Amino acid sequence: MTGGSVDFALEELQSQIRALQQELDETNKGTIALSLELEESREKLARQADELLRANAELESANAELNAFSYSVSHDLRAPLRAVLGFSNVLHEDYGDILGAYGGELLDRIRQAATRMSDLIIDLLRLSRTTTADMRISLVDLSQIANGVVAELQGLEPERSVQVEVQSGLMCEADLHLIRIVLENLIGNAWKFTSGNDTPYIEVSAESGSDACVYCVKDNGAGFDMDYASKLFGPFQRLHTEEEYPGTGIGLATVRAIVRRHGGEVWAHGEIGKGAAFYFTLSPSGSVEAPRND
Ligand SMILES: Nc1ncnc2c1ncn2[C@@H]1O[C@H](COP(=O)(O)OP(=O)(O)O)[C@@H](O)[C@H]1O
Ligand SMILES: [Mg+2]
Repeated sequence: MTGGSVDFALEELQSQIRALQQELDETNKGTIALSLELEESREKLARQADELLRANAELESANAELNAFSYSVSHDLRAPLRAVLGFSNVLHEDYGDILGAYGGELLDRIRQAATRMSDLIIDLLRLSRTTTADMRISLVDLSQIANGVVAELQGLEPERSVQVEVQSGLMCEADLHLIRIVLENLIGNAWKFTSGNDTPYIEVSAESGSDACVYCVKDNGAGFDMDYASKLFGPFQRLHTEEEYPGTGIGLATVRAIVRRHGGEVWAHGEIGKGAAFYFTLSPSGSVEAPRND
């Protein structure tokens, strides 16, 4: 190789190195811009997470406040109501004779209304307690609880003959006291709303998904219109008249509060005159589709 051609090759090499250096500089600039962008996104995400945490804490405290408020209102209403009921009873017993037929009827209405209000308050207080009570989770035998609830209902209405099927061995992780309230309400409803059926039937069962179990309380009673299914779980919501089927309309709201505290969901299916089925899970349903009624 001649001296001239060596110089030429050297120059060529140098220019290639310069081009490479330039490319490297460009890439470096790109990387720096990218990492700045990444850092910005990370900071934005952290801010959003902080905001979410704060909003969640605010929501929890507002919820607790609301609950404490509804508890104290319900609690404080009891004393004046006791007075209304007490004095109405005295009026009835000591002055019933001089009130006359119409006066007696009016007094009866006052006593009935006050008694109903007292029932509503007691149920409201119960709902409030279930949403704040400490939870103690343990392995619970749902079948045993369900059979106990049915025996109690039968004891209260021995004249009723209801065919009840409780699937055996329904075990779950739950708070014993709270889950009993769920079954008392669901089986109690099934018992009540089958009272107009000549061959009443109630079934308590479960279906296992791969990672969540769906429990079901089904009956062949009065049923309900599916168009109103979303309303059933709200406090005081009733689709049947007090005369037909007595109640306060707090039961299903209590059921939903308890089920949600366990991380589960509750939903219902019904058809007028054909019966109703109430389903619930006790943990977030992974593979099981939990159709919400709301
Ligand atoms: N098994 C059922 N069959 C038909 N309707 C039902 C059944 N369970 C609940 N419902 C409807 O949902 C309403 C709300 O139920 P719930 O909150 O337990 O109140 P309550 O039993 O005091 O009426 C009931 O009034 C009724 O209209
Ligand atoms: Mg009820």
